[in-house]
Amino acid sequence: MYCVRKVTDDLYWVGANDRRLTLFENIHPIPRGVSYNSYLLLDEKTVLFDTVDWSAGRQFLENIEHVLNGRKLDYLLINHMEPDHGASIEEVLLRYPEAQVISTEKAFMLMHQFNFNVDGRTIQVAEGDTFSFGKHEVTFVSAPMVHWPEAMVTYDLTNGVLFAADAFGSFGSLDGRLFNDEVNFDRDWIDDARRYYTNIVGKYGPHVQALLKKASTVDIKMICPLHGPVWRNDFAYFIDKYDKWSRYEPEEKGVLIAYASMYGNTESAVNALATKLAERGMTNIAMYDVSKTHVSQLISETFRLSHLVLASVTYNLGIYPPMHNFLMDMKALHVQNRIVAVMESGSWAPKSGSLMTEFLDEELKTMTVLNEQVSVLSSMNESSALEMDQMVEGILESMND
Ligand SMILES: Cc1cc2nc3c(=O)[nH]c(=O)nc-3n(C[C@H](O)[C@H](O)[C@H](O)COP(=O)(O)O)c2cc1C
Ligand SMILES: [Fe+2]
Ligand SMILES: [Fe+2]
Repeated sequence: MYCVRKVTDDLYWVGANDRRLTLFENIHPIPRGVSYNSYLLLDEKTVLFDTVDWSAGRQFLENIEHVLNGRKLDYLLINHMEPDHGASIEEVLLRYPEAQVISTEKAFMLMHQFNFNVDGRTIQVAEGDTFSFGKHEVTFVSAPMVHWPEAMVTYDLTNGVLFAADAFGSFGSLDGRLFNDEVNFDRDWIDDARRYYTNIVGKYGPHVQALLKKASTVDIKMICPLHGPVWRNDFAYFIDKYDKWSRYEPEEKGVLIAYASMYGNTESAVNALATKLAERGMTNIAMYDVSKTHVSQLISETFRLSHLVLASVTYNLGIYPPMHNFLMDMKALHVQNRIVAVMESGSWAPKSGSLMTEFLDEELKTMTVLNEQVSVLSSMNESSALEMDQMVEGILESMND
């Protein structure tokens, strides 16, 4: 059964959802699934904007056939070649033998690498070029590293629709509701959108800033991303999030407490710390056990909040592996400008505190590590309790800066 939605008078969403996939890119959990959005324009010419992952191919092809309603497909416009969007290109070309592919030089190179036969059917475009489909004229804007080097976005000069590729996307499948104003985005979607952005594109903040700058020069009436809801109003809300995330600026003053504990003593210490913070009025607290929380969630929360408490047991003279993994992921994604408090524990040679501090100082250079640190010898005692009180003061003082 086809499943499509009208986006404008002559533009249709013809994408599909995948609720079965457990891990996006085989690494990020997606309990709410993911949508692969594709759009079909019925102008004097017919134009398909991007395709979908192979897993959603059957639904997608049925949708296209329904919307075309006997018309031929004239153009397939490819903004992004990652296989979650590009995988169905060849099948579309087989079914619609007259379709020509509009894309960039880099994207055609990738099509060649992926072994898609587009010979004799390519129309190469570059930033600033325009192309008319009849009533609609579009222009192309390169968006390198948002999220791959070949990525571009396409802006419809006629009606202000921005085909944004991976930008402004989100994890989560669509449940019939397509537009941002049909869902409660701030309640039901923002966490998935943040986890998507921070883990997928988070590393490329300056590239996203460059795209936002280009986008600010045009009058956007609608944003059609390749994942998640379509935006038709309230752009400032989402653009502001993207602006903050891509500048590595926290959304909120608050404390993320990420702890690593085997037998509960370190956990007990951070419970005490969180309680003291709350008693002092700092109630924006999010606490996670790094062993039980996927690192993509820890990364997302790190982008949201201004402060970070890292509390780790010492493990074979090292940092507990899941905590180490979190630190390495922060480095990989270029997380910046957070205030970090470090707590260690150990029973005979506590080392995790100095090792975490060293990692933060040397590998994550823009982090501010508070001088107030806590060292727990097996369990809290008078000395570590005093250190904890000082850490609480240090965190609260740095909040006011
Ligand atoms: C496999 C293993 C390796 C450990 N290695 C160290 C170590 O190198 N240095 C140290 O001081 N404590 C080490 N410990 C002890 C724990 O870090 C210490 O008991 C800590 O207080 C446990 O806190 P928890 O109750 O939050 O799990 C190790 C414990 C285990 C199980
Ligand atoms: Fe992508
Ligand atoms: Fe994607």
